[in-house]
Amino acid sequence: MLVAPAAAVVGHIGVPGDKSISHRAVLIGAVCEGETRIEGFGRSADTESTVAAVRALGVEVADEEVDVLGVKGAGLDGLRPPEGLIDCGNAGTLLKLLMGLLAGQEGEFVLSGDESLRGRPVEDLAEALRGMGADLETTDGRPPVRIKGAELHAAEHRLDRASAQTKSALLLAGLQARGGKTVVFEPYSTRDHTETMLGAAGAPVRRSGRAVSIERVESLRLDRVDVPGDISSAAPFATAATLVPGSELSIHGLGINPFRAGLLDVLVRMGARVAVFDRRRLGGEAVADVEARSAALTATTVKKGEVPRMIDELPLFALAAGMARGESVVRGAAQLREKETDRIETVTNVLRSLGVRITASDDGFRVRGVPTRPKGGGVVHSGGDHRIAMLAAVAGLVSREGVELQDPESVAVSFPGFFDLLESVTQR
Ligand code: S3P
Repeated sequence: MLVAPAAAVVGHIGVPGDKSISHRAVLIGAVCEGETRIEGFGRSADTESTVAAVRALGVEVADEEVDVLGVKGAGLDGLRPPEGLIDCGNAGTLLKLLMGLLAGQEGEFVLSGDESLRGRPVEDLAEALRGMGADLETTDGRPPVRIKGAELHAAEHRLDRASAQTKSALLLAGLQARGGKTVVFEPYSTRDHTETMLGAAGAPVRRSGRAVSIERVESLRLDRVDVPGDISSAAPFATAATLVPGSELSIHGLGINPFRAGLLDVLVRMGARVAVFDRRRLGGEAVADVEARSAALTATTVKKGEVPRMIDELPLFALAAGMARGESVVRGAAQLREKETDRIETVTNVLRSLGVRITASDDGFRVRGVPTRPKGGGVVHSGGDHRIAMLAAVAGLVSREGVELQDPESVAVSFPGFFDLLESVTQR
């Protein structure tokens, strides 16, 4: 697929429901009493993996509309082992949250996934869960993961690395653990969708500073989840509108949870014209309409504490930094090496091949920006990584010569309609 340079990015759009929240709604709904209706479900390959996983565990899920699901909860101890393994596909969130959720269920479960997922380290999480009495075995620290359901006991965890997936898995285990509070201390705050949703379902979750605690409950109930637009899916559009001169784009109904909206804050600090209108709440989540207009940017340093707030948007930040005056730096983002690809390597290789002056470090990258459109003209292979495919597409729009993307289909992992929506707002 050739993504040609854009003359401008103009229009009004909405993006599919948040992937993180959609995964959680299905997984938490699966252990509730009664039915959870999910409105605005973000349907993608990843979230389909979650629906298939809970079905395999004996939970009935009705596809009412493309973006509406009814999950008939099996109760907190009602998940049942399927015949074979549970295929988590490409979805790291599903794999890790299931490790926590299944550790305290009855029976034996095997979790696996595609080649990329089977390469991702999960031993730290397995070890933390073992500290609660869980019986889990990884395969050299990676999936497949074999879980023998066990009686869990509450524990305190101090995470070395900020990870919402790890925190969420431990909270889901804590929900089933006896003997008091399970507490997770985070080095930096991460997205809090799990806490918000568990709280809405009646679980005793408390946050105090960077500590989150939970206690065992007898039952959960979550009648309805309204999923806001996914800020990670909107980020390529907001970035393109910022970088292509003459652009003006509005994104409606967007989730702007402060632990997710780091890219918008950092772009504004760089001089971007991003405005947030009509702030409101949807369920427990912050939602707004966001308008992005083109602007000249100045370089910035992303602080360590900002990294979890824009972890999946750091590839797009690197592109924006490539067009910002001065040197931009990201540090403290070693976890990027453990995503769908090693994103420090893939981002650096892709952007360099398109003419951006970027160098990788152990835990981030450094970009020497030039306030002109990068040359482009290269051929990009995303390595099956949806965020890299979207980065390449935005790079194509902002470049002088466009970008040829060899495996555009990988966007379906999080956003199957990405290219159609992008085309609908692109002027050439
Ligand atoms: C996610 C958390 C992040 C993010 C991932 C989704 C989640 O991972 O990169 O795409 O839904 O909790 P970590 O928190 O493990 O870094």
